[in-house]
Amino acid sequence: MAAEYKMRTPRSKELFRRAQSVLPGGTNYHIRFYKPYPAFISRAKGPLVWDIDGNVYDDYWMGHGVHVLGHAPDFVLEKVREIASRGTHLGYPHELLVDYAELLVKVLPGIEMIRFCNSGTESVMYALRLARAFTGRKKVIKMEGGWHGAYDGLHVGVAPPYNVPESKGLPDEAIANTLVVPFNDLEAIERALKDDDVAAVIVEPVMGAAGCIGPEPGYLKGLRDLTYEHGVLLIFDEVITGFRLAPGGAQEYFGIKADLVVLGKAIGGGFPGAGAFAGPSEVMELLDHLKHPDPRERSAHGGTFTGNPITLAAGYALVSHLNAHRHLYEHFNSLWNKVREELNKLGDEFGLPCHATGEGSMIGLHFTTRRPANHRTAVEARWSTKVYELFHLFMRLKGVLYMTEQNAHFFASMAHGEGQAGKLVEAIEEFMSEFASEKAVREWVDKVKA
Ligand SMILES: Cc1ncc(COP(=O)(O)O)c(C=O)c1O
Repeated sequence: MAAEYKMRTPRSKELFRRAQSVLPGGTNYHIRFYKPYPAFISRAKGPLVWDIDGNVYDDYWMGHGVHVLGHAPDFVLEKVREIASRGTHLGYPHELLVDYAELLVKVLPGIEMIRFCNSGTESVMYALRLARAFTGRKKVIKMEGGWHGAYDGLHVGVAPPYNVPESKGLPDEAIANTLVVPFNDLEAIERALKDDDVAAVIVEPVMGAAGCIGPEPGYLKGLRDLTYEHGVLLIFDEVITGFRLAPGGAQEYFGIKADLVVLGKAIGGGFPGAGAFAGPSEVMELLDHLKHPDPRERSAHGGTFTGNPITLAAGYALVSHLNAHRHLYEHFNSLWNKVREELNKLGDEFGLPCHATGEGSMIGLHFTTRRPANHRTAVEARWSTKVYELFHLFMRLKGVLYMTEQNAHFFASMAHGEGQAGKLVEAIEEFMSEFASEKAVREWVDKVKA
């Protein structure tokens, strides 16, 4: 199979060779690499991407989960062209800023005020600072496997052993105020909340990078009750779930309100510089320089490109469309819930320890001996790590692209139809029929090594 991939992708191979001498690891983000080299993408539209060798793939990475409506919807591009012709970055207040803020306040449950940022990472950083400013406390609780970007204070607990800095160059002091607990475990939260210096609990309502794992019944409600009880702010990191599960994100989908919501990805309508944090006025007004003229009495936020017209135009066009066509979510969620059910059935039929997790269009496929409830189980219960690589290569050759080679995550878009869903299930069924045992995987690995 690896030989077949190389045969189909000679131009990507050559580009990767060049990339390696000018970009560390030959890439701009290590998660975009897979073996032996990634296909370099030249074009994307709707549910599809094309590589520079002319191969076409059903795309389930969707720009890191950004493109809820598929790649490059025409009406978004038109809006951006119109706005860009009047200036790409103004650096002054402009009308769209107010229009989009008003729209988001209407669409997002419990939100009264919002501030735009340049990325999810940045938004999380500001939200956490605000939570600390509001509560006068220092610590934050995050989930094992939770990915909120590489901001120092939250760059811990992403992978086992969960209690060390995730990066060289990150001092222990930077993570000293971060407590890490397993997702879907209310007792662990209860124990952590005994510390009376906790400002916030930050959680992805459906864990993304940790394996597209949803909350067990009652978990988010329990989290809400416990945080109320302890006067701790509940921050929903809706960078992935926002506009994906429902127009109002996970808050709307699960019917649970957070104190602060962090947004990213889709909020920029597919354009870079996508991020925001939002909440009730009572909390957000700590950013208000008119109410708090002394900078040291308020929580700082800003940035050159924040609220730029290009990203806001794209985001405004996308979110208005999604909000005006709320009925789309019913089909969107039910199609991919059905796919998840079918994948779980296939696992049973082939006797392959394999579990599909997630909610709606966020699907995780786990080659684990039991259904993972959180990142810890998703890692501990793996019966093979090689099977993930093998699966990635197999799917690529079937014309299905997703990320990553170590964790199988599928982000569908509304541009993916029944045809794509059927093709995905069929390809996975074929994989299972060929590799329905650990032995088959081992044999393949030996063959590749030989
Ligand atoms: C849940 C979540 N939060 C935050 C981030 C960071 O966002 P960004 O990559 O835009 O900085 C990500 C990125 O994947 C994410 O998935």
